[in-house]
Amino acid sequence: MMMKNSVVITIDGPSGSGKGTLAAKLAVHYGFHLLDSGALYRLLGLAAEQAGLFAQTPLDTHAVAELARGLDIEFIPDEQQRLSIRLNGQDVGDTIRTEAVGALASKVAVIPEVREALLCRQRDFAQAPGLIADGRDMGTVVFMDAPVKIYLTASAEARATRRVRQLQGMGINASMDDILSDLVARDRRDMERTIAPLKPADDAYQIDSSAIGIDDVLSMMIEYTDRQLEQAQIS
Ligand code: C5P
Repeated sequence: MMMKNSVVITIDGPSGSGKGTLAAKLAVHYGFHLLDSGALYRLLGLAAEQAGLFAQTPLDTHAVAELARGLDIEFIPDEQQRLSIRLNGQDVGDTIRTEAVGALASKVAVIPEVREALLCRQRDFAQAPGLIADGRDMGTVVFMDAPVKIYLTASAEARATRRVRQLQGMGINASMDDILSDLVARDRRDMERTIAPLKPADDAYQIDSSAIGIDDVLSMMIEYTDRQLEQAQIS
């Protein structure tokens, strides 16, 4: 997808597949902008929680969508494309990475009006010279015409192990059993929802990273991307 002279490279896949890390590395490699669309859903989940919306049953989906439209957020990247993420001016980078907020994110993500509200916000990230868009529906919905689409996956066990390590690195103690069952539940919610379910785009390059190190996956992605961009004559 060429938008405002920018090239879009999409990376979709389930949580814990290594998408986030690889998307940031690709963005540094190409000097592109980075969209962490999961962070948008996480921010919305957190904002809905703070607004007390999850205390009501059934969830007021219009109110959540209204919140999505007015969400005051900032993504400020450093030179390694690590994002400082702010909600209403407050740094919430660590808070939104918790499993609890991940679960809230996947609950607001099933609401069609919410996904619609976040479409424009996501497309606005496509600025020159290019964008690496990381998520679940980047290649299937948000940037359907992107010239480079990658679908990154790994077995549930490999992903849960990585997630436990990542949380431990942040000083958060996590049990493998809990993480694995949360991850399987979230995968199911993401794959079985009727709107923008998690699935590879027909034209996506699929990589299973269960038994491949991150540097090798990065090389595979760069090789594929360069080839695609050359073919599309836009590199
Ligand atoms: O990628 P991350 O784990 O941060 O995403 C959190 C949740 O946000 C996902 O489980 C999914 O429900 C939702 N999401 C989505 N579409 C995206 C990105 C994330 O529905 N493009």
